[in-house]
Amino acid sequence: MERTKMDTVKILGIAGSPRHGNTEIAVQEALAAAKTLGDVATKFVSLAGKKIDSCIGCYRCYADASPQKWCVSLDDDMQEIFDYMLLADGIILGSPVYYGQVAGKCKDLMDRLGPFDHFACSPYRGAMSHKVLGGIACSHTTHGGLEHTINNIHLWGLVCDMIIVGPGTGLPTSCLFGAASSQWPGNRDDEIKSRPNGEALITCRNLGLTVAETTKIIRAGLKAYDHEESWRNWLKKYEPNWMRRQEKNWME
Ligand SMILES: Cc1cc2nc3c(=O)[nH]c(=O)nc-3n(C[C@H](O)[C@H](O)[C@H](O)COP(=O)(O)O)c2cc1C
Repeated sequence: MERTKMDTVKILGIAGSPRHGNTEIAVQEALAAAKTLGDVATKFVSLAGKKIDSCIGCYRCYADASPQKWCVSLDDDMQEIFDYMLLADGIILGSPVYYGQVAGKCKDLMDRLGPFDHFACSPYRGAMSHKVLGGIACSHTTHGGLEHTINNIHLWGLVCDMIIVGPGTGLPTSCLFGAASSQWPGNRDDEIKSRPNGEALITCRNLGLTVAETTKIIRAGLKAYDHEESWRNWLKKYEPNWMRRQEKNWME
């Protein structure tokens, strides 16, 4: 079969911890592996130090979201993250385990996807469809909620109509559903003591590869079917400068 040049795919890694710690290391490891496939652009966003407010359920984004202001009611650091999420073809979302489940700051981000919901009535409805999602969880205790946390991330992805993948068949694996890591709860200043363990880092790399590989397959399939998402068409037509700027951001 004749092979054509692949378009570069965009993979966004989000570390959903309020601090610079293990989740950042784990997500960055997955992104580094994704990049090794070639024709992969990556962006990394850490929620540490960022202001991410809770959704107030006003539903105004369902009608009025726009590239100028995705969330109509709140002023925080979500605007730039929305920009990255919208153009990403694949997303790797990592969360620390807090009380057996996804951490509040990460959940606040997950709860803010209203502008791209299928129930919205804006041109951006359903914008998360066809994006590939991999989940990562970091905890202190091996059985302290890692799988629940990855499950929280996967359920969110399903509600957003994303395509969920795990770390694939590469061995060894720290978790069959995503990448899970337990270690002493140090921060990046005592990285050596607290670094996610070796098996977890291998699983993060496997997850990064699976997300990138599946993303390439999905994008190639959409291209073969000549399917362009309606939100993308809309932005190209009515917000061409915004679109160009965002594309450029990704390639830097
Ligand atoms: C509020 C809070 C709740 C936590 N709950 C759990 C828990 O239920 N199970 C667990 O194994 N570790 C728990 N931990 C430990 C963190 O999951 C662990 O330190 C993780 O590596 C933090 O990720 P980070 O370094 O990216 O912030 C908790 C930590 C905090 C601060």
